[in-house]
Amino acid sequence: MFFSILSCLSLLTSVVVAQTNTPYCDSTSGICLTGYTDPDLDITVGFILPEDDTSTEYIVQMVAPISYGYTGISMGGTMANSLLFVMWPNDNEVVFSTRWTNGYVQPDLYTGPTITMLKGSGVNSTHIAATFRCQNCTVWEDGSLGSGNTTAFQLIAYVAQTTTMVTDPSDPGSDFVEHDQFDFFGADLSTAHSSSYNSYIGSGASSSSSSAAPVSTPVSSSTSTASASGATQTKYGQCGGTGWTGPTACASGSTCNAVSPPYYSQCQ
Ligand SMILES: *[C@@H]1O[C@H](CO)[C@@H](O)[C@H](O)[C@H]1NC(C)=O
Ligand SMILES: *[C@@H]1O[C@H](CO)[C@@H](O)[C@H](O)[C@H]1NC(C)=O
Ligand SMILES: *[C@@H]1O[C@H](CO)[C@@H](O)[C@H](O)[C@H]1NC(C)=O
Repeated sequence: MFFSILSCLSLLTSVVVAQTNTPYCDSTSGICLTGYTDPDLDITVGFILPEDDTSTEYIVQMVAPISYGYTGISMGGTMANSLLFVMWPNDNEVVFSTRWTNGYVQPDLYTGPTITMLKGSGVNSTHIAATFRCQNCTVWEDGSLGSGNTTAFQLIAYVAQTTTMVTDPSDPGSDFVEHDQFDFFGADLSTAHSSSYNSYIGSGASSSSSSAAPVSTPVSSSTSTASASGATQTKYGQCGGTGWTGPTACASGSTCNAVSPPYYSQCQ
């Protein structure tokens, strides 16, 4: 059964609570987050929320070894009925998608969140990193961050598939096999709100560059930024599908194809 191990989640909760998030700053993006690096899996998950605790958005950073077939995290502490973020490398690009499943089966693409990739995303010789703004992300089908209270405790789960690449690395909607390993950590969301948040999502994401924040490195996203009309989507980004309100035009060199009609179209 796919992801069957995670159904044992409740048995492991006591292990998790001992692991707590700590503040750190990412030198590439200039964004300071609160997060946790797993010493065994070498996966870092960090996040930061706006000062306003009624906001429905936040920034997440995921960093993992380049050798992993994929890396995924759950913002709800369980695989099922939680907002999931999944990333893997494709050549020198980050392929990213939001996912959801109501059981321990292959998670499907999930629409609702609006993802904007920020500086601090990319692939190098050793690691893959995704740093992104997630809007409309505190509430999802059958769940919510901190049970609706973003100053409460949240159990975060993350999973890693260490040996098997996804079926089609160029497709953000690709199937993938059950993870080899997984772990959890707990986050005290009351310490994860920052007065600098707005500077991270604007043009000031990097202290060392004057360029605009999003996508400084080759990155593709299944649910990339829904910005001004007339914007074009990057290659491998989403360009249509049920509920999609983002760009429907593709960057030159790619065209919009319905890869999973009617739910998902992608610039290819
Ligand atoms: C927010 O996400 C939910 C799914 O989690 C979706 O049903 C809803 O339409 C989204 N709202 C907006 C404004 O995109
Ligand atoms: C590769 O990226 C990781 C994660 O961002 C970073 O820690 C590491 O220093 C980078 N390595 C090189 C050689 O740039
Ligand atoms: C949210 O959680 C915090 C910490 O557990 C608690 O002090 C606060 O009263 C809660 N707020 C609401 C609106 O439930």
